[in-house]
Amino acid sequence: MKLNEALKQAQNNKQAILAANFYNYETCKGIILAASELKLPVILQLTRSSIEYMGVKNAVSIGRIVSADYNVKSWIHLDHCQEPELVKVCLDEGFDSVMIDASDKSYDENIKITSGVVKTAESYGVNVEAELGYVPKPDSDVEDDKFTVPAEAKNFVENTGVSSLAVAIGSKHGFYKGEAKLDIKRLQEIHAITNTNLVLHGGSGIAAEILKEAIKNGICKVNVATETKDIFMRTLKEVMSKSDEIDLRKVFPIAIKEVKSLIETKLKIVSVAE
Ligand code: 13P
Repeated sequence: MKLNEALKQAQNNKQAILAANFYNYETCKGIILAASELKLPVILQLTRSSIEYMGVKNAVSIGRIVSADYNVKSWIHLDHCQEPELVKVCLDEGFDSVMIDASDKSYDENIKITSGVVKTAESYGVNVEAELGYVPKPDSDVEDDKFTVPAEAKNFVENTGVSSLAVAIGSKHGFYKGEAKLDIKRLQEIHAITNTNLVLHGGSGIAAEILKEAIKNGICKVNVATETKDIFMRTLKEVMSKSDEIDLRKVFPIAIKEVKSLIETKLKIVSVAE
């Protein structure tokens, strides 16, 4: 099933599909082991830096081969891409889904850039995600006036033809300073007037009940990245602080296990219909 269809189905069922970023073989394996254990599909996300780190062909191969090894349905998605040229490279490498992120541009420019990518992606038949409003990146503060405006969202979706829309409703990338709060009323309004799949970025550190409330109200793709990096690196640091082990094949599996456990928790939250 194509990702946009799977997302629509999830939205109709008041469920979401987890979109987990991976950075190397080990984090990919942790994510896939979790999906395999729970027999759930998962979206494997790659940013430009992860693609540069692994190489695009290696990254896609890791995602595809590990998923096949553990019999997991997964889709490979390009996360937060600001360059239409990279979108084209990824489409040619067989990505199932791409995000063009022109959320830091003006509304009109965002429409123009996004429409161009939708046109390019048309013949590939893949899911195209864009962001409207601005979900803050680490170290910036959430500003209310950057939240997605429902009427603009409707116009944006109609004018660009995107299949998924990332909305700014209070979430932010990275860890939260206080408790994460989402503007559910705004989400309800966006969901009521747009006929599109809605995406929540900045899924790390949002309480389970809040995530569930968002999913009940139209979010059908939940992105998680920071918590995966954090648990992987914290586990390695902890193990290495107590050991002189140099056989990385003995150390890495401990971190993979922790990623698996984190992703299992997230998968359980997003996939349960209320
Ligand atoms: P976090 O890093 O906050 O989990 O956000 C992930 C994300 O939205 C990736 O696009």
